[in-house]
Amino acid sequence: MSLSSESGSAAAQAAAETIRARLGVRAPVAAIVLGSGLGDLAAQIKDSVSVPYAEIPGFHATNVAGHRGELIRGTLAGREVLALAGRFHMYEGHGARTAAYPVRVLHALGARVLFVSNAAGGIRRSFAPGDLMIIEDHLNLMFRNPLFGAVESTDDRFPDMSAPWSPRLIALLRESAKKTGIPVQSGVYAGLLGPNYETPAEVRMLATLGADAVGMSTVPEAIVAGAMKMECAGISLITNAAAGISDAPLNHAEVVEVGAHAATRFATLVSEFVSRL
Ligand code: HPA
Repeated sequence: MSLSSESGSAAAQAAAETIRARLGVRAPVAAIVLGSGLGDLAAQIKDSVSVPYAEIPGFHATNVAGHRGELIRGTLAGREVLALAGRFHMYEGHGARTAAYPVRVLHALGARVLFVSNAAGGIRRSFAPGDLMIIEDHLNLMFRNPLFGAVESTDDRFPDMSAPWSPRLIALLRESAKKTGIPVQSGVYAGLLGPNYETPAEVRMLATLGADAVGMSTVPEAIVAGAMKMECAGISLITNAAAGISDAPLNHAEVVEVGAHAATRFATLVSEFVSRL
């Protein structure tokens, strides 16, 4: 199979048919990607039915603690949603196309709003672990691109990236934060390949480049969403101060634990956001 057919729009259509047959998907108001430690939101989805990734053509097992590996259909705040609990990270050895392939499947299932979440290290010094950061823009520092190769029928060849994070949805997130009284930060997410956390020198470089938070996901998804003209929004949960910002060594257990503490705030904010779509 060529690069594009394995994880492209035709494969996504076929996967969507399989999922429709299993879950009877109705047009969702949003598709939600749940990041490390943020999978608890899945428990808030009512009347939910799910398919394990193993049963979706082109999907892979997820082996990272805090990532469950299922596609869920149900309602949040009374609105129809799809959710992905678990994603394919490039640091697991997946190509950028594969990392973003689930977004193509969500699009094929009728989603036109994509909401992504992730765990990230805080670069801006005013950020504290547990903060929720609205993603205003991103830096693709993965040195890979999910659109590399033949252009897909759903995509623009040269997508505009002047507003990959929808100003309309950012405004809705801010309104939702205000309404629920949940404090939010906002900033620029830098996506790196991982899997090692950054060195202090790299974090200083990222700060110079304009990054406020750093993580190992999300960017391929946002690029593919942009190429398909989906509206995209996202929240980074700041799980730790990035390397060198604090002296503490970093570890994944801490990332998952901070996620667990933020789970309720995150779920409340996302539900309010979904109710406004
Ligand atoms: N760096 C990269 N990815 C991360 C971090 C970090 O400090 N924290 C959570 N994900």
